Amino acid sequence: MHQFVLWIVFCAMAVMNGWAVADLETCSGIVPITYRYDKISITDFGGVGDGKTLNTKAFRAAIRKIEQLKGRNGTLLFIPPGVYLTESFNLTSHMTLYLSRDAVIKATQDTSNWPLVDPLPSYGRGREHIGGRYISFILGDGVQDVVITGENGTIDGQGGIWWNLWRQRSLQYTRPHLIEFMNSNHIIISNVTFKNSPFWNIHPVYCSNVVIRHVTILAPRDSPNTDGIDPDSSTNVCIEDSYISTGDDLVATKSGWDEYGIAYGRPSSEITIRRVTGSSPFAGIVIGSETSGGIENVFAEHITLFDMGVGIHLKTDAGRGGFIRNITVSNVYVENARDGIKIVGDVGDHPDNNFNPNAIPRVDGVTIKNVLGVKVRQPGLIKGIKNAPFTGICLSNIDLYGSAGLKTTPWECSDVKGSALEVSPWPCSELIDNHNTSSCSCCS
Ligand SMILES: *[C@@H]1O[C@H](CO)[C@@H](O)[C@H](O)[C@H]1NC(C)=O
Ligand SMILES: *[C@@H]1O[C@H](CO)[C@@H](O)[C@H](O)[C@H]1NC(C)=O
Ligand SMILES: *[C@@H]1O[C@H](CO)[C@@H](O)[C@H](O)[C@H]1NC(C)=O
Ligand SMILES: *[C@@H]1O[C@H](CO)[C@@H](O)[C@H](O)[C@H]1NC(C)=O
Ligand SMILES: *[C@@H]1O[C@H](CO)[C@@H](O)[C@H](O)[C@H]1NC(C)=O
Ligand SMILES: *[C@@H]1O[C@H](CO)[C@@H](O)[C@H](O)[C@H]1NC(C)=O
Repeated sequence: MHQFVLWIVFCAMAVMNGWAVADLETCSGIVPITYRYDKISITDFGGVGDGKTLNTKAFRAAIRKIEQLKGRNGTLLFIPPGVYLTESFNLTSHMTLYLSRDAVIKATQDTSNWPLVDPLPSYGRGREHIGGRYISFILGDGVQDVVITGENGTIDGQGGIWWNLWRQRSLQYTRPHLIEFMNSNHIIISNVTFKNSPFWNIHPVYCSNVVIRHVTILAPRDSPNTDGIDPDSSTNVCIEDSYISTGDDLVATKSGWDEYGIAYGRPSSEITIRRVTGSSPFAGIVIGSETSGGIENVFAEHITLFDMGVGIHLKTDAGRGGFIRNITVSNVYVENARDGIKIVGDVGDHPDNNFNPNAIPRVDGVTIKNVLGVKVRQPGLIKGIKNAPFTGICLSNIDLYGSAGLKTTPWECSDVKGSALEVSPWPCSELIDNHNTSSCSCCS
């Protein structure tokens, strides 16, 4: 069938199933909006947006001022049009970083002075190297009530220099994130473009009540590890109406790494992802591979993916421990992908040799429904763990077409239990054709 026809069919299905309801669900309400009476501008602190002047002092002074002001309802830091080069800086509570149209906050390319911070306890080391890690370009550590917004201004990590150092294997520590919030709550990131992150773009870790909406995240397809948004050991994270095109996973929910993540024991839960569009040589909607604190109650819908490695990817391994449960992904359109759906328990990638191979992750209650794929080379691959099968894997209303509009490559499954209803091509005998939804209910 022609792709366009498929799209029409998909839309008709959507209308019939009542997906196109008038009232769009949104993330609003998760974080109350505070009106900032007090406003300051980066130019009040000597900020110069000429793309050459280093504005580190201006950013740090402005944020110190916000700390001192303790304004009625926090303070807005205004960034006027211009290119503001700076080293990394920290945010403080009760502030809004407001980037006007054509405002760019640009990371310095001087990597030699980039500060180091401790590794995350749930990782036990940097993600790429043993020891500490470079501090994130913009960091909020232990803050609350922080908003990063504006008129689609840009935060540019100038990651190229870091990608090259990584390619040359000349980095001793793990590359910086573009934005990281740690131990923080009541965070909103909206109407901003993120560009060329050195490593993962937006990393909320040990956070709660985080809203990310109307963002654009861009990095070249060949940029290493430029994940879009990685909610990590965090709860109540809501991501919507965003476009993400990077060199790695678009939205990947995580919760720590092997023995470190198990000991720290901080799950990710109540993660909502909706109306996200994007493209990547890796995967679109991802759980893992770091799942050691557990991941539950993730809901993703209305996802549109082009030119992908994998559409929906759940990945973990023996040694990770933790759990993945009650995950729902629905209403996905994926065009041109190597794999449509991939759920695997053998991803590898351990922090060191001290992981416990008997720490088996439990995967139970994964519902994937209403998926249309075209030009998908392999529709699905589900590979559970021997003697610890993935259970409650429930697939319904899924059509994954091959390149010539033909359903050719077969699914591959092992060590999995669940059900499949109206899945084409037919997945595998392990998934019984079952109208009985109770065999699909989570967490039995
Ligand atoms: C200002 O802060 C107070 C106290 O936190 C809050 O009750 C009030 O709603 C806020 N006002 C606005 C306009 O956000
Ligand atoms: C920013 O915060 C980190 C972590 O809390 C800290 O190590 C660093 O010194 C802070 N940097 C500045 C400039 O205050
Ligand atoms: C925001 O800027 C990005 C990068 O220039 C652009 O791709 C995107 O369309 C813009 N979004 C809006 C809503 O203007
Ligand atoms: C944020 O971006 C969205 C989508 O482009 C737009 O509809 C909305 O008005 C913007 N919000 C603000 C406060 O500018
Ligand atoms: C499963 O997750 C959904 C969110 O997707 C949540 O509404 C529901 O309460 C969860 N179910 C259980 C049994 O926790
Ligand atoms: C549905 O499956 C559940 C659990 O496997 C079983 O207890 C129940 O009897 C089944 N119901 C029907 C109508 O087959």
